[in-house]
Amino acid sequence: MRVLFVCLGNICRSPTAEGVFRSRLDKAGLAQQVEVDSCGTSDWHIGDPPDSRAIAAAKSRGVDLSQLRGRQLEEEDFRRFDYILAMDHMNLENIEALRPRDSQSQVGLFMAFAGRSGEAIPDPYTGDEKHFEKVFEMIEAASDGLIEELRRRLDTA
Ligand code: 4NP
Repeated sequence: MRVLFVCLGNICRSPTAEGVFRSRLDKAGLAQQVEVDSCGTSDWHIGDPPDSRAIAAAKSRGVDLSQLRGRQLEEEDFRRFDYILAMDHMNLENIEALRPRDSQSQVGLFMAFAGRSGEAIPDPYTGDEKHFEKVFEMIEAASDGLIEELRRRLDTA
């Protein structure tokens, strides 16, 4: 199973989702069965580490994002990933615009896995630490829901 988290820059929300989700997969004993990655719809931060505020918010909760590097969403991702999960509605539109007709990937908003369908994880880039904290908490909630879904699918596979 493969999961891709997508935001605009790939330096705030989606790397946080990648780090948090990987750490939860580890704890759930699913690390070997699920592959995780993140990317941005823009090309603005290719090769960049996550924003220092995202790194700090994650570090204070025991998640290390420092080794992650930005990359841009590409067509190949639609053949590779089972889930392509957007942080907000603009990301979702940009993903849909690039999606090949024959892609089998399940595309949607990440927060739907927290039972909060239609809700976006707000862009914290121009915000402060509090915005990054909020992002982190939303990502934790959605990650738990996604773990449940993957566990069900892997159990019945
Ligand atoms: P992200 O946040 O999409 O969560 O990584 C942003 C990062 C950078 C920019 C915008 C949003 N930017 O304008 O460079």
